[in-house]
Amino acid sequence: MKNDEVMNIAKKRGFLWSSFEIYSGSAGFFDYGPLGAILKNKIMNKWRDYYVVREGFYEIESPTIMPEEALKASGHVDHFTDPMTECKDCLEVFRADHVIKEAAGEEVEGLENEELTDILKDQQICCPRCGGGLSKVWSYNLMFQTVIGAKGKKTGYMRPETAQGIFIPFKRLLRFFRGKLPFGVVQMGKAYRNEISPRQGVIRLREFTQAEAEIFVDPRDKTHPRFAEVADDTLTLYSREKQVEEEGPVKLFAQQAVSEGMISSEILTYQLCLAKRFLDDLGIPDEVIRFRQHLPSEMAHYAIDCWDVEVETDRYGWIEIIGIADRTDFDLKSHSEHSKEDLRVFIEYDEPKTVRKLAVKPDMKKFGPIFKGDSPKIIKALEDVEASHVEKAFADEGSFKIEVEGKDYELSPDLINFEEKEEITRGEKIFPHVIEPSYGIDRIIYSVLLHTYTQEGERTYFKLPADIAPLEVSVFPLVNKESLAKNALHIKDCLRKEGIISEYDSSGTIGRRYARSDEIGVPFAVTVDHDTLNDDTVTIRNRDDSKQVRVPLSDVYSVLGDLVSCKTSFRDVEAEYKKVNS
Ligand code: ATP
Ligand code: GLY
Repeated sequence: MKNDEVMNIAKKRGFLWSSFEIYSGSAGFFDYGPLGAILKNKIMNKWRDYYVVREGFYEIESPTIMPEEALKASGHVDHFTDPMTECKDCLEVFRADHVIKEAAGEEVEGLENEELTDILKDQQICCPRCGGGLSKVWSYNLMFQTVIGAKGKKTGYMRPETAQGIFIPFKRLLRFFRGKLPFGVVQMGKAYRNEISPRQGVIRLREFTQAEAEIFVDPRDKTHPRFAEVADDTLTLYSREKQVEEEGPVKLFAQQAVSEGMISSEILTYQLCLAKRFLDDLGIPDEVIRFRQHLPSEMAHYAIDCWDVEVETDRYGWIEIIGIADRTDFDLKSHSEHSKEDLRVFIEYDEPKTVRKLAVKPDMKKFGPIFKGDSPKIIKALEDVEASHVEKAFADEGSFKIEVEGKDYELSPDLINFEEKEEITRGEKIFPHVIEPSYGIDRIIYSVLLHTYTQEGERTYFKLPADIAPLEVSVFPLVNKESLAKNALHIKDCLRKEGIISEYDSSGTIGRRYARSDEIGVPFAVTVDHDTLNDDTVTIRNRDDSKQVRVPLSDVYSVLGDLVSCKTSFRDVEAEYKKVNS
């Protein structure tokens, strides 16, 4: 299986391996080795190039530990759960929907616990480990709980998504963006989920890296000013309807997807296109990528439309690697209610409008005798109160409570009159909607390795795009002779000084060295041979077709610089310099 070959090479050659191996490991944790860590950083930097540099969003960094009240407001304390079942014999626990999918092939994500329990019972699904009976299904919260502070009185959680760290300081971010929508903020970093018995290697981790953008938009305008740039991109779309009708996905132009109403807005479609372009740039082929719309039953508690970017794998089938959601105003509204901070945005009308408004009119004569010297400040505070809130409080509770300078006052209906006033308003306050592309970096790395892995006879290599390859250039002396070796080492040092990640290797035959270099996806090799000593030229070898071209030493650093940053192609270099027989 391709998965097994790739994971073997990844482990053996220093990309990634299970963590804590010498202590028998711990499921759901992976280390990035020397090559894996560079690959990961390069992919994250490419993501920054897309979202921060080109889209103009700004990156922030917030803590990975969050206080309980913040995650209560976001809904994670109450709703961030997976359905769990336990084997009555071996006591192993499983995700009930996954056990059902594996045993019966049924997609049951989002069903109620009682429904899952019935399916387990009716279909006599047993423990995948020992064949024992399974318990009824219950909800299990995925967050890692911790305590904040030495006395351990404050509950905290490891963040389950980076997004919340963007919603919470929204007021400050809004000020940074001068109060104007739309704007985007991104965060990259660790997220934590105590997944139930993860058995899918690097796909299902308990600590993983997300790259998320939260794009704040006016809910009445979900167009995109640069939609024309992506309108002709093609997307393989697996809509809700097609899933329900058990038909396959369809390929549409982005423009069609919007005009046919398959994707709910231009801005969401633009994000799908961006994700597709990003994956293309990482070398993941078009035919293994599809966009699957969430069924209403599987949608997160905050979303109204969500598309998963899925990649096909030989081991795990189609896996989600990116989620792109319209989160509406759920998060800002909820944080606003819980924190009592106004997280709305003032949207100015094109022209001021005259509106009739109900206003609160305190009965001055009655205030004095009751509230004495406090009356003026209560009356002042009432100026900022919406009449509708006061009316509602009178109807629901019989009085209206107001806090002024830390003191509570209760106002009965006879103290307040209401009057209609004409007011000129310049605009209104609204909660923005949030469009969110959420990338799982680890699943992307896995997909890149899986789908760039290439076998040609005896030769295997990762066909990594040059600008994400962890090692960029291998430098070899043709044979292990001191004069050649000295030159090659010098070239390797110079390449490093130029910022090109290079390695020198002189052990074994040149064929074996090319093979070792190919195996880890080094895109180019420089070989120093006897001609180098005479005419100051070297050969540059291209990993993908093993072709070589002879280049003067004086040019080699700039040529390689352009090749590894994908500013030029090997074919162009070939056209410019003399070809050498491979
Ligand atoms: P799944 O259904 O596979 O559990 P999810 O729907 O919970 O995934 P999201 O909550 O949408 O995933 O998270 C956004 C992205 O974060 C995912 O597309 C995925 O790439 C990544 N991600 C989520 N959970 C994990 C995990 N346990 N390990 C690695 N990456 C993850
Ligand atoms: N921020 C989306 C998710 O992690 O689920």
